[in-house]
Amino acid sequence: MSSFFRPFPRHHRCAFFTGIHKEEHAKNLQGEEIDPRCNDVETLTPQILSTDAEEILRFAKQCKQLGYKEINLNMGCPFPRVANKKRGCGLLPYPDMVEAMFKRIFEEIDINFSVKCRLGYFSPDEIEAIIPIFNKFPLSELIIHPRIGKQLYKGEADVERFKSLIPYINAPLVYNGDIFSVESFGRIHVATQPVNRFMLGRGLLTNPFLAEEIRGGAWNAPERTEHLHVYVIDLYEDRLRHAGGSPKVLGRMKELWSYLMYSFEEPQVVWRKIKKINALREYEEAVEEVFKSIELNF
Ligand SMILES: Cc1cc2nc3c(=O)[nH]c(=O)nc-3n(C[C@H](O)[C@H](O)[C@H](O)COP(=O)(O)O)c2cc1C
Repeated sequence: MSSFFRPFPRHHRCAFFTGIHKEEHAKNLQGEEIDPRCNDVETLTPQILSTDAEEILRFAKQCKQLGYKEINLNMGCPFPRVANKKRGCGLLPYPDMVEAMFKRIFEEIDINFSVKCRLGYFSPDEIEAIIPIFNKFPLSELIIHPRIGKQLYKGEADVERFKSLIPYINAPLVYNGDIFSVESFGRIHVATQPVNRFMLGRGLLTNPFLAEEIRGGAWNAPERTEHLHVYVIDLYEDRLRHAGGSPKVLGRMKELWSYLMYSFEEPQVVWRKIKKINALREYEEAVEEVFKSIELNF
């Protein structure tokens, strides 16, 4: 399968490597995820989840040495085990901490530094005290997902609130949230003028064609099915190779299918075939059956 045309670029501009980088030679900076031979260093932005300026500076230094052009700080992760330790979006209620951390980072950093955040952890008002801090530093990009951490993914992204922040933000601003189709992109694009940078999340997991569709790409049904099929097999084979053939990859593939199932006419039928599987062979057979028996719905 690997000699097939690959329908999607291996690494999109918004792909993130999330590293927790404790020591100078931390193991997780040596894997394929960060290896410049496996990535496009011009366009991939490695991401770190940390509140330790020294750790972020070490990460920045190593990423720069590897050829990357930018690092991104994750101030958006909403999961309680992260956020309760004031990491991810758990940092947003503490503007003084953010200021001290950024001050130290910008004394030394010599690679582009961008930030991904939410409106807050407990309240959407938290962003108002954080924006003046962000504005003190030359961020290369600020990505805002307009939900609060406590919501996780519930409710809708607050596009109006995002819009109200636009005039107050100095950094190049990126909108992220609830772009699931060309239609929702169009609506959000109009509502967030003059913002012209957008990041896709679950929409891309559900429909891996979405970024290209937004750019005007079109495929007929057989092409779509074939491309999606190749993508799913390629990804699985790569992950399996990475994991030394361990069935642990099934957990990751099932997580993808929990989004991808909505690309099919009968998502619940697809999910029932995939969710209980715990052997590689069974998984491979189930995937073949899905592609043989269930039509894509777009
Ligand atoms: C399975 C999954 C994994 C994610 N991992 C990351 C991550 O490592 N770093 C990050 O900044 N955001 C991560 N996100 C959040 C997305 O980047 C995005 O902010 C979020 O899904 C909201 O956008 P959406 O409404 O378009 O999905 C993840 C989201 C999902 C669903």
